[in-house]
Amino acid sequence: MNKKINKIGVMTSGGDAPGMNAAIRSVVRTCAYHNIECVGIYRGYEGMMEGDFKTLTARSVNHIIHTGGTVLKSARSEEFRTIEGRKKAHSYLIKENIDALVLIGGDGTFTGGLIFNEEFNFPVMGIPGTIDNDIFGTNFTIGYDTAINTVVEAIDKIRDTASSHKRLFFVEVMGRDVGHIALNAGVGAGAEEILIPEEDLGLDRLVESLKRSKASGKSSSIVVVAEGDKIGKNVFELKDYIDENMPEYDVRVTVLGHIQRGGSPTCFDRVLASRMGVKAVESLLDGKSNYMVGILDNKIELTALEKAVKGKTEINLELLRVSDIMTT
Ligand code: F6P
Repeated sequence: MNKKINKIGVMTSGGDAPGMNAAIRSVVRTCAYHNIECVGIYRGYEGMMEGDFKTLTARSVNHIIHTGGTVLKSARSEEFRTIEGRKKAHSYLIKENIDALVLIGGDGTFTGGLIFNEEFNFPVMGIPGTIDNDIFGTNFTIGYDTAINTVVEAIDKIRDTASSHKRLFFVEVMGRDVGHIALNAGVGAGAEEILIPEEDLGLDRLVESLKRSKASGKSSSIVVVAEGDKIGKNVFELKDYIDENMPEYDVRVTVLGHIQRGGSPTCFDRVLASRMGVKAVESLLDGKSNYMVGILDNKIELTALEKAVKGKTEINLELLRVSDIMTT
């Protein structure tokens, strides 16, 4: 029989994402609702290995639902990859009488949680928080909606100056391995071309597309490039190529970078985070472990953590086609 859960630890780890605070708030308040204790673990696995803990009550999380970043701070930990590091973390959890963990983060966070569970049989539950939307088992990760809205707002502004000067802009957006941000924000901002890691269009097709665009009467263009796009080494190399091969274009580059990770979460992310936090705590109280909470067809569902880590999200092919048609 599973040990009764009286105290839950919650932490955020990996790249922060808007809406993480709303998720923390939800976890803390769901614990309070069920009369169990909640402990905040600071700086992800780094803080877990140092016993950097603080008891959180329902009132500790007042007025954070609308804030970006994470009040628990975050980190990417090398030491937790070692058994010595994980043993240290485990001993602090035992000392603090923590019975289960809610891990808010991405696949690195969940991989750490899986290993930890395997080694110490410690109950863990994941909540997907990353702007990349690259986690299997959920249609949306917390932070993604805010990030694409930030990108669209930025591109709208770039469009003003691009069209005033008749320029071509390469706009690099985040997404090391996936093109969800690029594709969705690109369609939303009316980009002329979208370059994503999942589809290697090649330089020739890009040049062809830009030529067609010019011939059709467009005087300025926006090309959205995902960080992990495979054409060229980086966005500056793309600019150099176009400078050399299409001198008729006046090219500029904007790298949106970490502004995509900040800001007040959208209503969608706040609601998603609130729903996921409730499900995470109640699933642990039901004796479940080693799952990730996700949203599938607008229902909050559990997916085995291992599947969430190993599975690959797929790019929306219909959206890719819409994008192609829109570039006519
Ligand atoms: O995983 C989220 C993410 O924002 C990626 O899109 C990006 O490639 C990476 O984190 C940047 O990480 P860091 O903040 O460590 O530079």
